[in-house]
Amino acid sequence: MQPWLTVVGIGEDGYGGLGKAARHALLGAAEVVGAPRQLALLPRCIRAVRTPWPSPFSLEPVLARRGTTLCVLASGDPMLFGVGASLARQVPAEELRVLPAPSSASLAAARLGWPLQEVTLLSTVARPLAVLNGHLHPGARLLVLSNDGGTPASLASLLVAAGFGASRLTVLEHLGGPLERRLDGLASAWSAVEVADLNLVAVEVAADPGTRALPVTCGLPDDAYRHDGQLTKRDVRAITLARLAPRPGELLWDVGAGCGSIGIEWMRAHPACRALAIEANAGRQAHIRHNRDALGVPGLQLVAGEAPAALEGLPAPDAIFIGGGVTDPGVLAQCWARLKPGGRLVANAVTLQSESTLVAFRADNGGSLTRITVAQAQPLGDFDTWRSALPITLLEAVKP
Ligand SMILES: C[S@@+](CC[C@H](N)C(=O)[O-])C[C@H]1O[C@@H](n2cnc3c(N)ncnc32)[C@H](O)[C@@H]1O
Repeated sequence: MQPWLTVVGIGEDGYGGLGKAARHALLGAAEVVGAPRQLALLPRCIRAVRTPWPSPFSLEPVLARRGTTLCVLASGDPMLFGVGASLARQVPAEELRVLPAPSSASLAAARLGWPLQEVTLLSTVARPLAVLNGHLHPGARLLVLSNDGGTPASLASLLVAAGFGASRLTVLEHLGGPLERRLDGLASAWSAVEVADLNLVAVEVAADPGTRALPVTCGLPDDAYRHDGQLTKRDVRAITLARLAPRPGELLWDVGAGCGSIGIEWMRAHPACRALAIEANAGRQAHIRHNRDALGVPGLQLVAGEAPAALEGLPAPDAIFIGGGVTDPGVLAQCWARLKPGGRLVANAVTLQSESTLVAFRADNGGSLTRITVAQAQPLGDFDTWRSALPITLLEAVKP
């Protein structure tokens, strides 16, 4: 099918800023769909019917018109967190023509003199701000698309709370238009409450004295987590994550998630990694909620309930970690049954009973067993000695 849908990116400079192809598309269109703010930018010479998006927002009116010529207006580059990106998930590429204008990120990089390939681009549009906590590396440059005029102040508070109040913020309002305005300041001293809804925040991340910046590798310090002792400790956690081997786009079930550390580090490995934390204990569920936000993966999904019942209906995973409940009847069998072919199952055991469950599993299904003993040097009188943690038996099995 020929392209029937043209998505025109329009900037704050309106129709005057459009290129020839975009003007031509709009002049020839019978109908233009867009946000009222964008439709209002079109001059009278555009005779097309102007249709605002429905509220609540839905692509349905456009998708229902498949095959009939239609124009959609979007802000900046429609493919950057825009309606073009949403449409491209539903409409085949050969049916779609996208005519981008410079994105807000490109305009911000131009104003700040920041090479675009060196910045991290984040969107808080209808998304939790806590995702920023995963990007607080001193020296990092972030461009954050704002949800509304309150975003810069909330972002400043988040930075202060995380120990990054020394970060420099630049708020850029209405980039590329006559109302363009720039506000600069430190997160710790941020006072501008009144900011235009259309704004983008540039952040130069800087840590306050005494703030410990977290690494990008797994095996975060134990005290990075709020927990009640139900935590896979740092060294064993790093080994466990290495065996789980997260890859972009994969889904993990963290069964008996405790404080959520395995699922959290799985998701920190790549923005496209997803995890379900299955936990029955209400206190630990609260820890998971806190830790996922504090460590920058608010998208980690908590499944409140007890396995195996709680596993019912969950999407099939690429990897499963069983940190707790391996001896509960049905848990291991259910996990193995639901794992995708080629998926990895990793389970850690401390007690003789859980270990023998893993040994029996291996006899039936194959896999490898690894014994992990970690000892720390600690004082013994005037000297030091090795104090061993309980040895762990780790099962790793790949489903045929
Ligand atoms: C849904 S995203 C769309 C981004 C758009 N596709 C682009 O290319 O910039 C909307 C967010 O982008 C940012 N934004 C878009 N245009 C902007 C502008 N002209 N000035 C400042 N920020 C802008 C704001 O943070 C706004 O909330």
